[in-house]
Amino acid sequence: MAKARTAYVCNECGADFSKWQGQCGACGAWDTLSEIVVESAASVKSPAARRSGWAGKVDPPRVTALKDVEQGAEARVSTGIGEFDRVLGGGLVAGAVVLVGGDPGIGKSTLLLQAVASMAASLPGLYVTGEESLAQVAGRASRLGLPLEGLNALAETGIERILEQAAQLRPRIIVADSVQTLWTESLTAAPGSVSQVRESAARLVRYAKETGTAVFLVGHVTKEGGIAGPRVLEHMVDAVLYFEGDSGSRFRVLRAFKNRFGAVNELGVFAMGDRGLKEVPNPSAIFLSGSARQPGSCVMVTREGTRPLLVEVQALVDSSPLSNPRRVAVGLEGNRMAMLLAVLHRHGGVATGDQDVFVNVVGGIRVQETAADLPVLLSVLSSLRDAPLPDKTIAFGEVGLSGEIRPVPNGEERLKEAATHGFLRAIVPRANAPKAGSYKGMQVIAVDRLADALEQA
Ligand code: TYD
Ligand code: MG
Repeated sequence: MAKARTAYVCNECGADFSKWQGQCGACGAWDTLSEIVVESAASVKSPAARRSGWAGKVDPPRVTALKDVEQGAEARVSTGIGEFDRVLGGGLVAGAVVLVGGDPGIGKSTLLLQAVASMAASLPGLYVTGEESLAQVAGRASRLGLPLEGLNALAETGIERILEQAAQLRPRIIVADSVQTLWTESLTAAPGSVSQVRESAARLVRYAKETGTAVFLVGHVTKEGGIAGPRVLEHMVDAVLYFEGDSGSRFRVLRAFKNRFGAVNELGVFAMGDRGLKEVPNPSAIFLSGSARQPGSCVMVTREGTRPLLVEVQALVDSSPLSNPRRVAVGLEGNRMAMLLAVLHRHGGVATGDQDVFVNVVGGIRVQETAADLPVLLSVLSSLRDAPLPDKTIAFGEVGLSGEIRPVPNGEERLKEAATHGFLRAIVPRANAPKAGSYKGMQVIAVDRLADALEQA
């Protein structure tokens, strides 16, 4: 009989330890180790190793020159949803394992059901549900009017039985909804525990690589925004996509956080309707609130992934009753905002020390690039002065600690997007501005220093 062994695994990073300790030695988190019981290594050895043992004649691994390795062409299949393909890097790759994370109710199951159904005609799919009943899945599929040819569903959470079914059915695509419900018999830990999630996902990854089956893992996110369970899931898979959006808004953004087959930070934009998720072909239009010419609003051109996007940054600056005024950034990084406010004071001569400052990116979108610096400060200034920015104006640019405005990548592409959408003025870093001072009829104001930019606004 296999001898059981106790180990400890970190809930944050998934590292194993043989002894309990208060702090994880790998990621430094406190009080995150939980006990798991693993079967002895002998019982989980690969079949070949089990047959032959260590003394047996297993083919030794061989070193191969990379030039002699046969390269399978990376065949991509369209998911039938253009925005989804874009985030995947141009379609789904055979054998790829894709983790789709997001808040409950954001639309992960809907998106994957739609994608698997639209691929089902050419690639048979298996939708494994651990959270909903088969009747619920079938009900949703028919409500969405999806073609059900070639789509099979399985209500099961035991990974052994799932893989058994998969081996019989030989689907080309498997959806595991959700990875947090999976468990394996080889561990005695409770289903849902970190070790169960990690081991079950590892089995699916191995299956995907051995058979060339594409696997989607659905994962819930924690309050901190990471995928619940060990971060190691992110290392094991080929791509990690996050589904984001305001709960109040019907727009949803799918973002590539990691992708071995495409650009990271690529965005796909969807709208949730009564017939499921629909692509939004011209996303620039939806992130503008339409309330331009209000104090505290500044439109910027961000370039997340490979596409420029117009988004609106809003600020509200108000005198604070608190001794420690509040600084709240939604859709932006809070520390960066605090830094920018310090630059605004030191190099722009605008003090906000006694003011509450709230900054929000409209539409529930998250902007991670530094091109948002200048728009953030312009919106703060506009709110503080209670004066709107000039009409039809966009801005972008990084703000350095010494008050200089630094260029950002793909300036021309950003200007083009703004001009296409009818903007008339752009305040941009000098190196991003065309020499002529205008671009397709749009006046382009080049700035070197924060003080210049504030003057122009
Ligand atoms: P779901 O895909 O179940 O979310 P997740 O798997 O991420 O938890 O989506 C559930 C939400 O989407 C639910 O609040 C209802 C809404 N919805 C629609 O608005 N229209 C639809 O056609 C569908 C299927 C769901
Ligand atoms: Mg779901």
